[in-house]
Amino acid sequence: MKVLVVSGGRSAERDVSLVSGAWVRQALADAGHSVLDVRIGPGGDWTLCAEPLSIRAGECPWKLDCSGQEVAFDVIFPVLHGPFGEDGTFQGLCETAGWPCAGVPVLGSAVAMDKQTMRLLARDAGLPLLPWVFSDGSVDRSLLADQALQLGSTLFVKPSRMGSSVGISRAVGRDELLSAIDVASRYDSRVIVELALEAPREIEVSVLGTGERVEASVPGEIVPGREWYDYSAKYHCDDSRLIIPADLPETTALNLGLMARTAFRLLGGAGFARVDFLLDGTTGEVFFNEVNTIPGFTAISMFPKLWNASGLPSGKLLDAILSEALARPLTGTAARP
Ligand SMILES: Nc1ncnc2c1ncn2[C@@H]1O[C@H](COP(=O)(O)OP(=O)(O)O)[C@@H](O)[C@H]1O
Ligand SMILES: [Mg+2]
Repeated sequence: MKVLVVSGGRSAERDVSLVSGAWVRQALADAGHSVLDVRIGPGGDWTLCAEPLSIRAGECPWKLDCSGQEVAFDVIFPVLHGPFGEDGTFQGLCETAGWPCAGVPVLGSAVAMDKQTMRLLARDAGLPLLPWVFSDGSVDRSLLADQALQLGSTLFVKPSRMGSSVGISRAVGRDELLSAIDVASRYDSRVIVELALEAPREIEVSVLGTGERVEASVPGEIVPGREWYDYSAKYHCDDSRLIIPADLPETTALNLGLMARTAFRLLGGAGFARVDFLLDGTTGEVFFNEVNTIPGFTAISMFPKLWNASGLPSGKLLDAILSEALARPLTGTAARP
């Protein structure tokens, strides 16, 4: 298959996307696909192998043009993390252009990107969540801090629509909390403040929509080499350890698989994702944390590793992702009344 792999992008997670993009291109080539390496620059410019690429809008599907030559492809694989890539905007472009696109479609991508909206849907579906408070930017930060301190004194402050721990802080007490709210607000006017779990275990499950069914992998555990899994622990230090499968009672593992599939179905159940949980090491209680609709795809990333451990090698995993994307009708192609 001719696959257009898009990496880079305009978000703060651009560097991570470039690493993930390289891994996906190699894995696709190893699986026998022909790969087109498209990069989106920090300013939003598109290139194909360093040559400017432009979109020729016209009859659907729209064409891509590189130095006057039409660029033909079967399917797009966006490996873009964060805003303008993982949040439904890129997926919307593909839908509008009539290009088949791997991964969760527009609505699910947008919902998963926004921690507040995802939490509301998850709560409605009965998934267990840590208590949190939210501001859409209109709540005074001092009032938000007062509300949050009623949950407890140690809190996690997060921009609602970011990823890779960018803009996230752990805060103890009011002063740290106010600065943490300022930091998060620099990335998004929508901010959530959540009760911190002391020494949580970080458990992740990969999911894959295969038409009618949603499959879940075995759960894996990340043991960060530092206090919590911040940006440096994720991408700069190699002292974090992955334990696959996670050492958990069988019922907990089964329950996590069920919850991961439930969370994914809330997003429409098409495409793929990594669903993250926090587990209280003392009580064994599990809390849903988030769904990553374009999880990290690097040599050390959990998403492919969990599938490998569940009997799906990376080549077959990518084949399944591409076939599902091609089999799925584009949202806008439903019959006209
Ligand atoms: N409520 C919490 N209690 C304890 N640790 C947390 C909590 N929320 C987040 N963390 C830590 O912060 C990391 C990043 O938070 P997360 O919500 O997953 O944001 P991101 O979308 O940036 O990955 C988690 O992997 C975990 O290490
Ligand atoms: Mg996370």
